[in-house]
Amino acid sequence: MNQSTGPGTPCEVAIIGGTGLTGLQDMQNLRHELITTPYGEASGPLSHGVLWGQPVIFLPRHGYGHTIPPHKVNYRANLWALRQANVGRVIAVNAVGIIRPGIEPGSLMMPDQILDYTYGREHTYFDGTGEPLMHVDFTQPYCEQMRGIFRDAAEQAGIYLVDKGCYGATQGPRLETAAEIDRMERDGCDLVGMTGMPEAALARELGMRYVCIALVVNHAAGRAETGIHAQMDAFLDLSMERLEGLLKASLPGVCAHAAG
Ligand code: HPA
Repeated sequence: MNQSTGPGTPCEVAIIGGTGLTGLQDMQNLRHELITTPYGEASGPLSHGVLWGQPVIFLPRHGYGHTIPPHKVNYRANLWALRQANVGRVIAVNAVGIIRPGIEPGSLMMPDQILDYTYGREHTYFDGTGEPLMHVDFTQPYCEQMRGIFRDAAEQAGIYLVDKGCYGATQGPRLETAAEIDRMERDGCDLVGMTGMPEAALARELGMRYVCIALVVNHAAGRAETGIHAQMDAFLDLSMERLEGLLKASLPGVCAHAAG
């Protein structure tokens, strides 16, 4: 979609928080902005603030009270609102289950590909009512420049970040069956979550750079001895702690590129 949909140079950096991230404790100078969009209401007002010295905008994907399920998130309104606020770079945080063997819950992962198993979600701005149709190039669904910044920052700070992997986006809100995970593994999925799509594609349609930082909070269905919920309870805090370290290390680079 043409950049004329946004009001100015897209120089802001946004963080979209997922499960476990409905707010950023260390964010200062908060101002809230409610943006009306042609697609309805976003998950909440945008929070503008300063995080460890860097200007950022925060939006919790599931709402501030974590009440909006993955299939009911208004992804179009969320991305549109961010673009209206001049956001050019989006850091998406998503809780996931791990399919690929050898990666443990508590890890952080930065996928480079997506398979979309969702259905019935409003997934495009090109729905025949607005601008002339454009088939955006989605060969590489995530921004390689931002992935590079996160990769380098993690390496320098000694933070374990699994680089590359295929994110399988499921419909939810239920978790998967073991057979579904087996099929996803055969398809080439390394991790499974419910919110990766259509968010990444909509960001691309609006011309925003987009990276996903996946918090591995459990082994996918049929892949562990213990229950999935018990794993989530045990590992969400650890992965959040690690995410905080990664954001602290990476934000200066992301914001410097955004300003430049
Ligand atoms: N499946 C789908 N979504 C998830 C999972 C999972 O195992 N864990 C966290 N989000």
